[in-house]
Amino acid sequence: MKLFDRVVYQTRRQALMAGMETGLIWIQGNELSPKNYRDNTFHFRQDSNFLYYCGIDQPGLSLLMDLASGDTFLCGRDITLDHVIWMGPQRSLSELAEQTGMSGVLSEDALHAMLQAAGSAAVHYLPPYKGESILKVHAYLGVAIEDVTTKASDRLIETVVSQRSIKEDRELAEMEYALELSRDMHLEMIYEAKAGVKESHIVAKIMEIVHRHEVDTAYPVILSVRGEILHNHHHHLTLQDGQLVLGDFGAESSMNYAGDITRTVPVASTFNSQQKDIYQSVLRAQAAAIEALKPGISYQEVHLLAAKQMVLDLKDLGLMIGNADEAVAEGAHALFFPHGLGHMIGLDVHDMEDLGEDKVGYDQEVKRSDQFGLNALRLGRKLRVGFTLTVEPGLYFIQPLIDQWKSLKRCDSFINYDKLTPFENFGGIRIEDNYVITNGGSRLLGPSIPKQVEEIEFLSGLDKYIA
Ligand code: GLY
Ligand code: MN
Repeated sequence: MKLFDRVVYQTRRQALMAGMETGLIWIQGNELSPKNYRDNTFHFRQDSNFLYYCGIDQPGLSLLMDLASGDTFLCGRDITLDHVIWMGPQRSLSELAEQTGMSGVLSEDALHAMLQAAGSAAVHYLPPYKGESILKVHAYLGVAIEDVTTKASDRLIETVVSQRSIKEDRELAEMEYALELSRDMHLEMIYEAKAGVKESHIVAKIMEIVHRHEVDTAYPVILSVRGEILHNHHHHLTLQDGQLVLGDFGAESSMNYAGDITRTVPVASTFNSQQKDIYQSVLRAQAAAIEALKPGISYQEVHLLAAKQMVLDLKDLGLMIGNADEAVAEGAHALFFPHGLGHMIGLDVHDMEDLGEDKVGYDQEVKRSDQFGLNALRLGRKLRVGFTLTVEPGLYFIQPLIDQWKSLKRCDSFINYDKLTPFENFGGIRIEDNYVITNGGSRLLGPSIPKQVEEIEFLSGLDKYIA
């Protein structure tokens, strides 16, 4: 288990406590979750808030912070000889508390008693998303199960979001490591994407890289010739010449920071002219968005700017018509670009989404739109120095959506439905990179991963890929 220096966690907890007033802060770590019976569990992933405030990557623990004294306690059950027999030697709770700069430890029974004595009104907790954690709030604080989420502390959520939104240099370094591995994974895909190869074969090659580095993916791999299916987790198709493969995947560093990269490559090693046109449009939209990144601009504005760039290109191709600004205002582009330009990224691939999408991505100044497409934008608020985010425009030809809009004549003053027939089996293209907002604008996180048409065509044409 890799930890930052104890001072890092102490400083973060002090800053958290300084943002709160009275009572206790209780942050639960995750438990192991059974897959098909109690002792056969899913791969363990620690809660990201718990990781942020103490870094301990072990199940069955929680943190209790006392705002009156400023003390933090590590709470849980200590290891027994039985644990040692089955799992090997492990650090005791006191050793872990000492290593992460805490005041001491509390047994599970002592924690339960303290929380009960304080009463639910005096205990700040974050909204739990796992059954085990919801049940513990119910059992220890007496909150009805159906009220556990709504009774989470808004003040605590806001304080955690404002703290975790601004990344420290050490966090950026972890993300850059995750992105180095993500680059290797994507280069592997570009090389392997050849006619006759199954999607699952490429996924296996990608996973080999992750496992070799003793880490995990930051989210389930999306890799398919059906790139228009936005979160397509099936990998059973065989690649054919003329198709595109969309791969959206990234590694998680050993300290659980995420990389989130998407590339789209031609199976035939070269893009045909139709594919190249759409690819260049997505690339231009991404470049326009990146160019606009700076402190103070809202990400909603950047999203709309990328959308406009794509509308201008789609007009040149004859697929859209009319005034580009009006088309974007009407949401006509969402037929081809039905998702958001990006999201915060950090310890979670969609960073802090457990705390509430709107609490992370929106505020009093920028409210989430309810327009189709724009309503899928997870980050809309004004950007600040230290925010880390994804820039991931895409263009897709989703036949059921096209059929529906066409039959409703939706936005038909902006969409040339008759010109869409040749795109029936096109699939989709998305290009995604990760950026940090700086004083001067923004900086690419991680290495530059090939995305220009010539680079992709060169790499996918190679017979042998040398890492
Ligand atoms: N990487 C998947 C997503 O951003 O939704
Ligand atoms: Mn993403």
